[in-house]
Amino acid sequence: MSTSSLRSFELVKDVYWVGARDVSRRLFDSLIPLPLGTSYNSYLIVDESIALIDTVNPGFEDELIGRIRSVTDPSRIDYVIMNHAEPDHAGAIPAVLSIAPRAKLVTTSTGARMAKLFYKVPENRVQVVKDGDSITLGKRVLKFIEAPMLHWPETMFTYLLEDKILFTCDFFGAHVAQGLWSEDVDGIATHAQRYFGEIMMPFRANALSALKKISELEVNMIAPSHGPIYREPKEIIDRYWKWARGEVEKKVVIAYVSMWGYTRNIVKLFSDELASEGINVVLHDLVVADLGDLAKDLVDSSAVVIATPTVITQAHPLALQFAYLAKLLRAPTKYAVVIVLYAWGSNADKQLEEVLKDAKIELVGSIKINVVPDVQAANNLKVLAKELAKRVMSG
Ligand code: FEO
Repeated sequence: MSTSSLRSFELVKDVYWVGARDVSRRLFDSLIPLPLGTSYNSYLIVDESIALIDTVNPGFEDELIGRIRSVTDPSRIDYVIMNHAEPDHAGAIPAVLSIAPRAKLVTTSTGARMAKLFYKVPENRVQVVKDGDSITLGKRVLKFIEAPMLHWPETMFTYLLEDKILFTCDFFGAHVAQGLWSEDVDGIATHAQRYFGEIMMPFRANALSALKKISELEVNMIAPSHGPIYREPKEIIDRYWKWARGEVEKKVVIAYVSMWGYTRNIVKLFSDELASEGINVVLHDLVVADLGDLAKDLVDSSAVVIATPTVITQAHPLALQFAYLAKLLRAPTKYAVVIVLYAWGSNADKQLEEVLKDAKIELVGSIKINVVPDVQAANNLKVLAKELAKRVMSG
């Protein structure tokens, strides 16, 4: 691809989007599905001094530099702001620093160590900033806000004072390749929730600290480094408060595996009982479930039900993987129910209960069913569903 004709997009006067759109990428962290690809947003601010905020994933260096060149000569860049050291945003730093000989890399002290580790940036090219520090570009000032562990230790935000634009890198991001503005992306709230579940949910306490910090700022625009930009930022900020606080809905995720349909039949019975109590029930067949959708639903679900057949006396690996995911992502889920089907013996319930205990999710009940529920087992299922519904409805 020739990069000579690439464009930049001006967000406000002299502030440009110069990133890259990775439409074809389908996996992140060798784990997270990206059905709509992703973008690596990079921003250029042109004043008496020129600043580039974050860069792009390795392989997109030429695209970044081509877009910068549509605004200015890249060798004139004075500052490369590294809000986050992960390669999807910092991978092009060596290319930019080599083309812009006087540019300094601006980052936190932890970021400086990471820049050396990952990108071999020499100390004399790094300018370390602390919380509240600022750099004057000319008419404009960049202020730096430390916001650690979102989701790496070095993360910070950059605030463009005069235009009231907050550059947040991963925070407020979404894995969507298309759409410059949030209003251009169908279902952006769902994409943002999915992203929060995958990336930010394990760090809710840090997210809350960051939200408190930025609540003191007047913010006209949020420019993250994945997905679209918000020029009406209140809605996404409000959503982040809710998700970071772990405010859950009257919603239950039922994640199940079925080999011959018997588990699926039990799940239908259990699901109907919950739904009849006014619960929003979301079913995920773990054989075909998308991990990002699971993460999204864990963000605001009050409870999980894990239903598994027994495989060689144990839980099905996909059921264990889901329980582990809820633990790993530190979901705010309060309650759990385990349903195990067996033909002649099973330890599956104990395995799942162990993971849920580690995840600090209260086990409301666990039930083992000998393939097809008899009258007693069917009644026990119903009672357990009513008990779960009672807990969920009472908050
Ligand atoms: Fe988008 Fe944590 O990198």
